[in-house]
Amino acid sequence: MDWPRGFGGLCYGGDYNPEQWPEEVWKEDVELMRRAGVNLVSVGVFSWARLEPAPGVHDFGWLDRVLDLLHTGGIGVNLATPTASPPPWFGLAHPDALTVTASGVRLTHGSRDTYCVSAPPYRDASARITRALAERYRDHPALAMWHVHNEYGTWCHCDHVAAAFRTWLQARHGTLDTLNDLWTTSFWSQHYSAWEQVMPPRATQYLPNPAQTLDFRRFLSDEMLDCFREQKAVLRELTPDVPVTTNFVFGDWVPVNQRHWAREVDLVAIDHYPAADPPAETAFGADLARCWSGGEPWLLMEQAVVTYTGPRMVPKRPGEIARLSLSHIARGSRGAMFFQWRASRGGAELWHSGMVPHAGQDSRIFREICELGALLPALREATLAPVEAEAAVLWDVESGWALQSPGLPSTELSYLDAVRQAHRVLYRHGVTADFAHPSADLSAYRMVLVPSLYLLSDADAENLRRYVEGGGTLVVSYLSGIADEHARIRLGGYPGALRDLLGIRVEEFHPLAPDAAIPLSAPGGDPVGTATFWSEHVHLEGAEALAHYGGAPGTAKDTGTAGATGAALAGLPAVTRHRHGSGTALYISTRLTDDTYARLLGLEPSPLELVRRGEWLFAINHGDDGQVVPGGLRLPAGSHAVQKMREI
Ligand code: GAL
Repeated sequence: MDWPRGFGGLCYGGDYNPEQWPEEVWKEDVELMRRAGVNLVSVGVFSWARLEPAPGVHDFGWLDRVLDLLHTGGIGVNLATPTASPPPWFGLAHPDALTVTASGVRLTHGSRDTYCVSAPPYRDASARITRALAERYRDHPALAMWHVHNEYGTWCHCDHVAAAFRTWLQARHGTLDTLNDLWTTSFWSQHYSAWEQVMPPRATQYLPNPAQTLDFRRFLSDEMLDCFREQKAVLRELTPDVPVTTNFVFGDWVPVNQRHWAREVDLVAIDHYPAADPPAETAFGADLARCWSGGEPWLLMEQAVVTYTGPRMVPKRPGEIARLSLSHIARGSRGAMFFQWRASRGGAELWHSGMVPHAGQDSRIFREICELGALLPALREATLAPVEAEAAVLWDVESGWALQSPGLPSTELSYLDAVRQAHRVLYRHGVTADFAHPSADLSAYRMVLVPSLYLLSDADAENLRRYVEGGGTLVVSYLSGIADEHARIRLGGYPGALRDLLGIRVEEFHPLAPDAAIPLSAPGGDPVGTATFWSEHVHLEGAEALAHYGGAPGTAKDTGTAGATGAALAGLPAVTRHRHGSGTALYISTRLTDDTYARLLGLEPSPLELVRRGEWLFAINHGDDGQVVPGGLRLPAGSHAVQKMREI
């Protein structure tokens, strides 16, 4: 299906919330949108209370006028179903459909996302408002795409959820005996003798069961996906040729398995808000979106004109809005969209940014928005060929969930940190990478990095073995292959599922204190870098050591236990290599610094972001110095170029 309907070029625009403004502002909005080159806006994302001010009473008049105005201005509409924010009357009429926290607190309306996706009244009301919208606008010429809901990702622990969770568990595990076995309920007297005893992981006295919490996340993802499917079915029935999407949000709190969801949407769309290192994080988010979309084009649905660093909202540097948008487009996005068109003057996000800031059109931000809008139409041709990636980083959201379980050997473990580092090392050294699931066909990649892939099924481990046998280079780092898909430890030594392939056996983990650093040395004794965060007692069982832990007593720079650890591991392998079939499997038993990691992979730093697509090259200079693109073109600091290879 072509998306958005009727679009040939790249999409440019953002969330448009006209209901927050008097009607006289709408005309100016459309005028400014035209000036900025905007061609698509997401409308109605949180408009339920305005569309249905009382149960069953609809008010579409204002939205009719907005859509007409946009259409007259030549701007397409990505029309949202408003189900991410039910009106106050809804919660009062259906208190059982409001979210219940793990501690049993029932939330009240007053923000957004306060509903339970398993509550029948919520599901019914969502389907009704979706049908009413689709019936009203099915023939409106501005309708280009459906934007279902917003950033699915809510948690609830109420009785509706408990019932739905049990049904899901029955379908997944069949019998209670299997569930008892897979959840190891023999531990702490958790054995269930009837399905009614099984609960969502509500607040409890001490550590919850990790297999239960992992299954609960899987359940939440599937349950929300059912909600999405229900709305999509209504939209398909009434508007069969209008594509349907929803916007995925990043964050390790999100109980959504995007890989499963991606099969159900007509296009993958993401919201992306980098915080600490915008260029590297942008490449990360964009490459992940391309993985979810199976290499097909996807869409950056939201980004901001400022950087939300966590504690502070910081203006982007001059030209950064364009550079980051271009990085998304180079990596597969068919456009650049923002949250939001006009910065709000009130409401919870009154300080969130807009393409038209509080200062209005006479502002640096709006000028840069207009410049970017003018740039995009010429880029379409360069986005037709697929992105070329020579390496892959394995990504499995469920491993990330499992690494958030309580009771792990370190509370400081972070799947995202490990994956981000692997991707960042490739990114900073000019290697475009795909993300891939461990079950994917990896044969096209020269190198595959496997950061902290804690859960690994037998079938996926076999897939990795085949990749190496066929000549690939697999680079596995600590805490991979440890548990099966039910989060049960594989016995006999770590990294259980990958021991033979790597030719090693790990006997013990030695997590390091935050300030610990153990020197690493090459077999001849030369220093080769530094180990931080984590270390392991590795035995060679066929592999050779590429680096050893140094750490004769006193050499480990540490105030805590790492001195002792450094000594305990002194002379033992830290990084290993095992030839297998026609390929090689490396193991890194610690967190290397980025430089050491890159040296191990034989990579040279690249000061430019370079992405190849067929005969086109995207080159972005995020730095403060001028650089030269391979082929001779000079790129001044902060600039970018999209050119045919033979022209440079
Ligand atoms: C997004 C969300 C938007 C808005 C935005 C603020 O995650 O989808 O509705 O809240 O963040 O930057």
